Amino acid sequence: MTQIIDGVAIAAEVRAELAGRIATLKARGVTPGLAAVLAGDNPASASYVRGKARACAEAGIFAETVRCPASISQDELLARVAELNADPRFHGIIVQLPLPGGLDGEAATRAVAPEKDVDGLHPYNLGLLLRGEGVLLPATPSGVQQLLVRSGHDPAGKHVVIAGRSNLVGKPLANLLMQKARGANATVTVCHTGTPDLAAYTRQADILIAAIGRPAAITAEMVRPGAAVIDVGINRVEDATKKAGYRLAGDVDYAGVAAVAGAITPVPGGAGPMTVAMLLVNTVTAAERAAVRA
Ligand SMILES: NC(=O)c1ccc[n+]([C@@H]2O[C@H](COP(=O)([O-])OP(=O)(O)OC[C@H]3O[C@@H](n4cnc5c(N)ncnc54)[C@H](OP(=O)(O)O)[C@@H]3O)[C@@H](O)[C@H]2O)c1
Repeated sequence: MTQIIDGVAIAAEVRAELAGRIATLKARGVTPGLAAVLAGDNPASASYVRGKARACAEAGIFAETVRCPASISQDELLARVAELNADPRFHGIIVQLPLPGGLDGEAATRAVAPEKDVDGLHPYNLGLLLRGEGVLLPATPSGVQQLLVRSGHDPAGKHVVIAGRSNLVGKPLANLLMQKARGANATVTVCHTGTPDLAAYTRQADILIAAIGRPAAITAEMVRPGAAVIDVGINRVEDATKKAGYRLAGDVDYAGVAAVAGAITPVPGGAGPMTVAMLLVNTVTAAERAAVRA
């Protein structure tokens, strides 16, 4: 029978494990704090930030949303980030992407102090990850790693095929899983639009990770029977039966692939909740490291 990897349950487990660390910090007078910069009124971004703030509140992490108008200038945005870098209440800062048109998300990411970069996307932290010295690991990739390890699919010794090579997901995930380290040590193949025959690679995967951004791009015949399939994709698909007019779908044709895979993550309820959980882990780690420096 196909194993459904429950990201909600595993994320709850990760969050519960933080309780002791947060209590220890609070006993020392430190409340971990996260600032989320939200520019403009993109409903999806606002909803992600609300979800993160709610998760922080539940965990006992202080969270503040720093709202900026869509008309904010790049210089003003960078100045806001600089203020947060200097604010000791916040151990973690995220700039919710995408930013409204005209604003440079890459520059905003680089403006976050590396020790507060709880998205793990600053070039400094990505460099540490590459060297196998990562501390603040990018949240979605490390969430995928935790999903695998905690559901009995340790990547060690496996052939992992990742479809997608973005700076946000595919590239850091490949780096994470190829490290000579616990929960990694995989042989990793990364596919992208320059890959001539995607299915020829995906069929070789013991673990297949889809991070493409196209609904149902991975179909049953692309999957080796028994493989573990992690679907990172979150796509809005028109659906007149839904109040919102759309539903969320992954990059994997869930019904078809579930019939051949040994294990699979649903969307929603797979990689998504793990991203939030790992953001909390990073915020607590950043607070612990700041407390040591203090
Ligand atoms: N669960 C979460 O928390 C979470 C977090 C982040 C992202 N996501 C979701 O994950 C998906 C990917 O996000 P992203 O930010 O990585 O997207 P992205 O920046 O658009 O990158 C997509 C990657 O997929 C590759 N690709 C696109 N079509 C392909 C095809 N037909 N065959 C092979 N490769 C193909 C692209 O190749 P090229 O490089 O050649 O263009 C690119 O490397 C999206 O659905 C996004 O919403 C989920």
